[in-house]
Formats: sequence, structure tokens, C-alpha cells
Amino acid sequence: MDVPVLSSVIEVLHTRGISEEDLSRQVKALLSFVEIRTNQPIGRYLDTVTAIVVQKLLQDVDSLEGFLNSTSVDVQLGIVANFFNEVAVSEKMNDMVVAIRAGVERIIPGLVSSPVITATRDSRRVEYAVRGPIEQEIDKQEKAWYAELREKLESRGDAVENSDDIIAKFFALREEGFDAQKEFLVGYLIPSFVDGFMERMPIRVNIGNSFPYTRLSPAFIEALEARLLTNDDSGRVHLSLDPLMPYSSSRGLPELAPLVHAKLIERGIAPSDESFEEWIERFVPSNGSSEAIAMAFDVLVEEHDDVVMTGRANYSLYSAQIQRRGANERTVPYEGGEITVESVLKALTPRTRLLIINSPNNPGGYIGKKKLIEVVAEALKINGSKQVTVLFDEAYGGMTFGDKVEDDLPSYMVALCPDQVIAISDSVSKKTGALGVRGGNIYFAGPKNNMSFLKELGIARAIGLCPNTFGQVFQAEALKLGEAALVDMSALQDRMDVLIDKLRQVPGVKVEPAEGGLYVFLDVKGLKGLTGVDTSAKLAMRLAEESHFSIVNGSGFGGHPDNDNRIRFVVFLPESTNKELGRRFKEWAERNMK
Ligand SMILES: Cc1ncc(COP(=O)(O)O)c(C=O)c1O
Repeated sequence: MDVPVLSSVIEVLHTRGISEEDLSRQVKALLSFVEIRTNQPIGRYLDTVTAIVVQKLLQDVDSLEGFLNSTSVDVQLGIVANFFNEVAVSEKMNDMVVAIRAGVERIIPGLVSSPVITATRDSRRVEYAVRGPIEQEIDKQEKAWYAELREKLESRGDAVENSDDIIAKFFALREEGFDAQKEFLVGYLIPSFVDGFMERMPIRVNIGNSFPYTRLSPAFIEALEARLLTNDDSGRVHLSLDPLMPYSSSRGLPELAPLVHAKLIERGIAPSDESFEEWIERFVPSNGSSEAIAMAFDVLVEEHDDVVMTGRANYSLYSAQIQRRGANERTVPYEGGEITVESVLKALTPRTRLLIINSPNNPGGYIGKKKLIEVVAEALKINGSKQVTVLFDEAYGGMTFGDKVEDDLPSYMVALCPDQVIAISDSVSKKTGALGVRGGNIYFAGPKNNMSFLKELGIARAIGLCPNTFGQVFQAEALKLGEAALVDMSALQDRMDVLIDKLRQVPGVKVEPAEGGLYVFLDVKGLKGLTGVDTSAKLAMRLAEESHFSIVNGSGFGGHPDNDNRIRFVVFLPESTNKELGRRFKEWAERNMK
């Protein structure tokens, strides 16, 4: 663009008080009009084509003036059509629109010459704090730390044992805890080196910890052995895999759905007068409950819909699913600290499609009470929309500490408002400690006539053929055993107690024991003030970089302002590891106080 044109363009825009962005918006609106009139979306190229047209306008003062002066769409279309013109443009609106659309199609091949293939807009807008930059930092440290360990082991003159074996044994000892690992290393390396070296050992204080956070219950192991092993005539033990090798039905292995059905009848959630064949259309087994929740989002939530989350903080999976679909996340404001009908009403809109209740709660550690259901039911009634599905995420169902008792929230909701459509997602992951087998499911309750989405849900499941059969077996055996399959919550409580005791010694940190689930959500407002670190994300990164452990920043659990004063710790690491974490955290705080 030469200088005289540039200055006249600026003048034209300036005298009309219009910015380049305003112009871009007008052009985009015109191109959107073309899309609608021709019924041919420009799709992912819309922004680029808009930018090209804007550039052309900015290079031609007469066109720009004409474009801005015109009050009629026809004139604007004529100007834009001219830019694409290979055919003579008539004055008829329809011809111009068709010519512009054809012109757009002709320039698209020129826009696809870059070898860099970008992800879709939908996937690009997803952030997921739980597996975000902090975990990546710890990954990086872990690689370097283990490389240093290998080097040290290999530089020993008297080495008899292979360093790979030593590292493998050391790694496995994470399950025993920090002290056991340290003691083990002292058997190979100079103690004075081990002290400092272990202080730098990266620790993941996250559920993605790649060792079982707790062993399966003995009764559960026995049940799985009985299910998966057989003896032949000579007494040899075999894995009996044949029934699990084909795809199962998309509704799961024949044994699974009846067990879920029976349990839901017992809880008063499934109608006892509905036949099993009718009922099963409400049921979808899945690879973990995350997949089930994703499928529910798939069929219920689209761009510009609203999703209401009832927690003060909410598990990042929901935000990711909301972002993925271009929907809006709305949280209950919790003014005065309590959830009330008024506060839920502030979050609900006519566009609300899902309302999520997660108890026991990740990351909050609390369990929902009946009162919550009363409040939500009343707010839904006042709001009046019949398009809301209430999703109960029971990933941590049954996992309570001490004498804390869970109310059966979905069951209460069915009793209070039988006409409400609800969904319940369940998982074998956390409650049995079998995360990797990916067993989960979702079930819909309420008037089936109002659930036209069940057909699409069935298709969504069928596209994935079936959830993995091992996950289904784990679910079935866990359901048969009931509480006996549950992880040992009292052992986890002991670990949590140690952690809380240590965390309370960190300046500026407040923490309450969790009522259920696997996390404590620390209040670090005071610590932020003492150290001048102003966001939870920065605090989490500093702790990772300087104290070598990875936690999740509170801001990763939704936009509630209070979340940025929090961070999440898992409670289940071995006691000596929890002590080491407390030590490192306290030392970091003291070192960084202003
Ligand atoms: C609240 C909540 N819901 C659902 C899930 C999904 O777990 P899974 O896919 O293993 O069932 C998780 C996992 O962390 C969770 O914390």
C-alpha cells in the first residue's frame, strides 16, 4: 500500500469515527449474509476471507468510501462482488450474492498452501488445568532427575547391579513413600548426596500419579480372579478371556446393565414398573465416566447453550466440555457463602441445558446435602425451562471419610420432582482404585417421553462400538460386591490427616479435612499476600519449579473469584511423602515471605 492511499484511507475511517475492527465486523456481517442467502457456509475460512476483503477495501479509497457511504446492502454487495469479479456482475442481489460465494470458493485453494495443519476451533479453545503446564514442568524435571540418577549410579566404580534394575526398584518404591525411596538410595549412593538429591525429586501431587493410589480391596481382587481365571484338568490356571474378546453390545456385556438396573430400583431412581427392555434404552456404558459425560454433552449441549455448575469450584472436565462446544459456563455466585434459590436463579437462564452436581466434590472435598436439591428444584421450578437436564456426577460416590454420611441426592431429586430429567454418571475408577481400566456409565431418569435425545445417545455410543470389556467386568464385579469393593477410606483418612497437619504449618495456608473424595482444596489467600505471588497459577508454577511438586491451581476449576485463592492437593500419597511435601511447602513459604 503506498503512502498517499494509506493516509487517505485513515482519513476516510477517521472522519467517520470507524476503526479497522468496525470495518472488519461490517464485512464479516456481509459475508455472513452471503452464506445465509446462498445456504453455503464459508465455515473456517470466514475470518481469512473477511481479512482479504478488508485489505482490498483499505487499498482502494473509492471502494472504501462507497462501502461506508452506502446505506443499502446492494451497493456493498456490488463493491465486494467486484473484488471477486470474473463474471460480469448484474445488479440483482441474488446474482451478486452467488458471484461472491463463487469467488470465495475460488480463493480458498490459495488459502490452504500452508503445511501447518491447525486443529479445529472447537478443540483449540479447550484448556485443561489438570494436565496443563504444571504437569509438563514436572515431566521435564522428572526426565532430568532420573537422567542424573542414572549418571550417578553408572559412575560408581564398584557397580555390580545394573542401574536400570536399581531405578526400576526405586521407582516402584514410590508406593511405599518418600522415606523408603530415600533409604533405598542410601544403599547405593553417598548419603550426603542422597539428602540433597531427594529434596529435588519431582513429586506429582495429582491423580495422574502413575502408581495405584491405593491397592484394590482383597475381596475385589478375589472376585476378579474368580471371574477372569479358570483351572484346567491338570490344575493349571488360565486367563479366561474368550468372553471378553469380541465387541460387547453397545449397551454393554449382558451381566452389567441388570446390576445397574437393580441398584437404581433399590435407590428409588429407576421406576420399578418399567421393564428391563424399556429401561436399558436409558443406559450407556462407557470408558470411564469422563467418556459418558462427554457423550451427554454431545447430545445435549451446543454452541451458545448455557451449562450451570453448582459447586464453588468445579472439576475441569466440565469446563473443557463446555469450551469444546462453544457453550457458556455459568456458576452459582455463592454470595454470603451459601447456595440459595436466588443464587441458583442468577445462574439459570432460558438457555440452560445442563446443571451439574458433583458429590463428593472434586476439588472441594465436601459432600452435597439434601438442601442443595431442594434449592435446585425450587430454582428450576421458578425458572420454568423444561430443557434442563440435571447431571449428578457420582465419580466419588460412596467415598466418604469417618462418620460423614452422603445423602442420596439423585434419589431425593426423583422423589421431589419426578418430572425432572436427570442423568447420573458413575465410575469404577476412584471408588475401587482401578483408574486405568476405564469403567463407567451414565443413566437417565425422568419421563422417557421427554427424552428424544436417547436415540442420538444410543448412536453416539454405537459409533464407538463398545466400551472396553475389562472396564465393564470391573464395574459388574464392583456392583456385585457393593461396599466390599470400595477402597480403604480409613487408610486414606490416615494419609489425609498427616497431610493436613503438615499443611497447617505452612504460613498463610488454611485447610479443612475433606468430607469425601480424594482432595483438599487449600485456602492460600494469606500465603499469596505474604509472598506477593498474585495468582494461583503462578503459585503452582513456582512450587513446581522451586520445590519440585505439582499441584493444581484453583483457577483451573472454574471462574469463581475465590478459586484463585486456592490450590488442590490429593490426599492419598504415602505418609512420608505427604510429610516431605509439607516440609517443602513450608520451607518455600518461609523463604519467599516479604
Ligand atoms: C468429578 C469427576 N468426575 C468424573 C471424573 C472422570 O473419571 P473417570 O473417567 O475415571 O470415571 C473425574 C476424574 O477425575 C472426576 O474427578
